[in-house]
Amino acid sequence: MTSLAECWHQFLADKRRCEREYIPELLQQLHLSQPDRDEIKAQSRALIGAARADASPLLDSFLSEYKISEGEGVALMCLAEALLRIPDARTRDQLIEDKLGFSQWVAHKGQSDNFWVNASTYGLALTGRVLKLKQGNSVAKSLQRLSQPVIRHAVAKAVALLGEQFVLGESLARARARGAKLSHGPWLLSYDMLGEAARTDDDAQRFFNQYASTIKALADQQQSDIFARAGVSVKLSALYPRFEFSHAQTALKIVHQRLLELALLAQESNITLTIDAEESHRQMMTLRLAEKIFAAPELAQWNGLGVVVQAYSKAALSAVNWLIALAQSQDKILTVRLVKGAYWDSEIKQAQEQGLDEFPVFSRRCNTDLSYLVCAQRLLAARPSVYPAFASHNANTLSAVRYLAGNAAGYEFQRLHGMGDSVYRQAKAQWPEMAPVRIYAPVGSHKELLAYLVRRLIENGANSSFVNQLADVGIDDDALVVDAAAQASDSSDHRHAGVVWPRDIFLPRKNAAGLDLNDALVWQNLNEVLTQQYQRTFDVTAIVDGWTPPKNSSTQTLINPSHNADVLGTAIWANSDTVQQAFKVAQEHWPSWRDTTVATRADCLTKAADILEVELPEWVALLVREAGKTWADAVAEVREAIDFCRYYASQAQAHSSQPTALPESGVGIAGESNHLNYVGRGIFVCISPWNF
Ligand code: FAD
Ligand code: 2OP
Repeated sequence: MTSLAECWHQFLADKRRCEREYIPELLQQLHLSQPDRDEIKAQSRALIGAARADASPLLDSFLSEYKISEGEGVALMCLAEALLRIPDARTRDQLIEDKLGFSQWVAHKGQSDNFWVNASTYGLALTGRVLKLKQGNSVAKSLQRLSQPVIRHAVAKAVALLGEQFVLGESLARARARGAKLSHGPWLLSYDMLGEAARTDDDAQRFFNQYASTIKALADQQQSDIFARAGVSVKLSALYPRFEFSHAQTALKIVHQRLLELALLAQESNITLTIDAEESHRQMMTLRLAEKIFAAPELAQWNGLGVVVQAYSKAALSAVNWLIALAQSQDKILTVRLVKGAYWDSEIKQAQEQGLDEFPVFSRRCNTDLSYLVCAQRLLAARPSVYPAFASHNANTLSAVRYLAGNAAGYEFQRLHGMGDSVYRQAKAQWPEMAPVRIYAPVGSHKELLAYLVRRLIENGANSSFVNQLADVGIDDDALVVDAAAQASDSSDHRHAGVVWPRDIFLPRKNAAGLDLNDALVWQNLNEVLTQQYQRTFDVTAIVDGWTPPKNSSTQTLINPSHNADVLGTAIWANSDTVQQAFKVAQEHWPSWRDTTVATRADCLTKAADILEVELPEWVALLVREAGKTWADAVAEVREAIDFCRYYASQAQAHSSQPTALPESGVGIAGESNHLNYVGRGIFVCISPWNF
């Protein structure tokens, strides 16, 4: 058996594995023969056919008509995302006009099989037309003035209705009442209090109180078995405003106190408390806290802790191995909910923006599906120390899990409220011995709905999602039956060709390499640089070709503004002597610099960028010491400098390839066409900004 510490080490190392080498390893770890896989496919095919024949809900039809990859779908998403947050009517009207006025609603008229979708389309087309009427026309003006409050109200109502699809109730009482009436039950429930990424401690306190009162209220259930009772799901980012690695010390302390309090209440109420998985940068802290709560002596008798693992994470399997080792280290049960992951788009975008070497998530959906199955197999084998909960709306995944489980004992399925209805209805009908199904049931007001709603809209609207494909009548049933392992092995590269790698987003220019400040291993390396850096002192001065300005009254002691005992050294400020000297040197060098080709000058900039990139940690540390910057700001600043150097080098080269006549004097004329900007202009004294 691998120790907890070894599993943790592997978890840290796997975060940025390259899919090229990792996917073949994962394929080796999935133990399913060809007959097993054929049997799973046959079961999926039957389930898909039946789910398709089941009534298609309104949302499916709506999202299949307005795909999020197209203009109108994007307009609706933007509206849904922003509208509920805008406090004043005027700005709301402007947003509605912006989003509805310029899209091609007419093209969607009568396209859907669903009456209500077509009716909405007519409404949107009419609204768009009214909003597009020419401003000068007085009839148009009064029509717009009269219709704006109606349109505003109607659009806000439509967006709110969309929200209701996914929220079980505004209060726990309403949600419980509605939950009891859900058809095709019995369904188990896990209530989730809407609200995440608290901005202030008041928010965090409010979210904490909601969780606490919900947990207490759920004590009144009749069943005695904790796994047969409704539970609660919690997001740790709701419990503290800066649940981030950069605030780890305080965040871990405060979130631990709050989480422990909730866990003790959950123990008293005899219910489960499952910690949701959020963005990957919170994952390490989340797992560490789960470990502390699981091992807390005052919770020794409680089998109710749950932890979520996202299969799209490259570290999913090592997280599962670590959780199994954790469960086996204590004499009690740990619930592990396996999901695919709801933050894929933002994980990709953030890694690109930060110039990281690798994504923390897989780039192909079949790789995520493969990872899900390998994790599922591992978790099922670890029963009963682990109680696995398989959350998915995909008929292929459900069929595979059921097959892998062998029997229906010691695990459950889970779905989100408002999603996967027909798949689960039909699974229950076809599989009489099916494991219990729990519904994740958000509770709360529209004010807190946005982040959750956007994730659901992306999930429903993305054409790579199973739920979207199920609603798309253009895809036939057979095409929906997917063998994840076969798909994952059909590419030798194993990476998605359409996902742009972080360093390539500005091609042909390279994006500056960044540092993942949420990664413990990055900090380990950074700390070595820092230790050396903090021992260094600097005596700095202007660099003027060998000439050094004498120490004088403008010599300043450099003190770290955030830690005054840290003296960096001295700086001699430039003065008019320095400028004179620099000017003289520049005059000597000017003719040869003027005649230097643009390509050579651009190379100087590119070389400077490359050196800055290699020395990034040293520069970052220096900025933190010298200017008291935060780490993230310092990284951003050095990367900006690197990007600037590369940007101007590439611009100069691109423009210099256009034919141009050199001015005779080497002095360019301001306002001339772009390419002349790259001709040497003469000698300047320039105070360059280094302040961001
Ligand atoms: P499928 O259509 O089979 O898969 C879609 C998923 O595949 C996407 O969501 C994404 O994860 C992945 N994917 C899509 N494109 C790519 C790509 N190009 N490369 C790699 N992967 C890709 N999510 C969380 O993040 N944290 C939670 O705590 C959480 N709790 C949940 C609890 C429950 C009960 C349920 C049902 C879901 C929960 N989710 C959570 C949401 C969950 O992650 C999504 O619902 C799930 O990803 C959809 O998976 P699927 O099997 O239904 O859909
Ligand atoms: C989310 O909030 C369900 O936890 C998942 O998207």
